[in-house]
Amino acid sequence: MELSAGIMSRTSVRGFKSTPVPQALVRQLLEQARCSPSYTNTQPWEVSVLSGAMRDQLGKVLYDLAAAGVPSRSDVSAPAHWPLANESRASEHNARRFRTLEIERDDSAARNGLRLMNYQFFGAPCVVLLWLDRTLSEWSTFDLGLFTQTLALAAHGLGLGTCLQASLTHYPDEVRALLGVAQDKRLMLGLSLGYPDPAAKLNSYRSSRAELDEFVRWYN
Ligand SMILES: Cc1cc2nc3c(=O)[nH]c(=O)nc-3n(C[C@H](O)[C@H](O)[C@H](O)COP(=O)(O)O)c2cc1C
Repeated sequence: MELSAGIMSRTSVRGFKSTPVPQALVRQLLEQARCSPSYTNTQPWEVSVLSGAMRDQLGKVLYDLAAAGVPSRSDVSAPAHWPLANESRASEHNARRFRTLEIERDDSAARNGLRLMNYQFFGAPCVVLLWLDRTLSEWSTFDLGLFTQTLALAAHGLGLGTCLQASLTHYPDEVRALLGVAQDKRLMLGLSLGYPDPAAKLNSYRSSRAELDEFVRWYN
């Protein structure tokens, strides 16, 4: 796939076929992702790839906690209040996703169902977890973001889909315990990975973008 066509056509996938992703293909994606730039080439990313029984176990741990309403204990904090422009884009995103699924504003059970789909990886057979050492700074979070985008684009180029998910970081102690990961690693992000299911209703949703004039200032 041509690079700019790939950049423009990638979208989050929230409905996957159960078809397994061969490990060789995941290796190929990671080979591309490791070409990402990083601060003084520190390459701070650490990656866990789960499929089969381990993917199922992780899903059960996360789903049970989320379904029981246990609040997020993510290692990564969210701002107490988003700036207004960001907040309104998030609200629009949520409202439009609910509309795609024909979920009414006051249908809290259906809204909760959509939330919980995160912890079932939207049906994806493979899950990628991204970690950073606790001592690292914002520069490394930046690097991990670049790595993640490269991974998502590489997957798209090979006919796979991804959904980047903060939700998968909500219960990091349980994930560390399951995978034997040390306390000094922060769980930064999870990704569902698999073959997109074109029949999944959520996959018809397309997010919007602010126009350049909203966020670019030109100086001549
Ligand atoms: C750091 C980060 C966390 C995200 N967390 C979630 C998540 O928990 N669940 C989800 O469905 N999508 C999640 N997304 C996907 C965003 O909602 C999505 O990227 C955004 O709406 C733009 O849509 P697009 O990816 O289809 O272009 C996340 C994206 C990023 C970059």
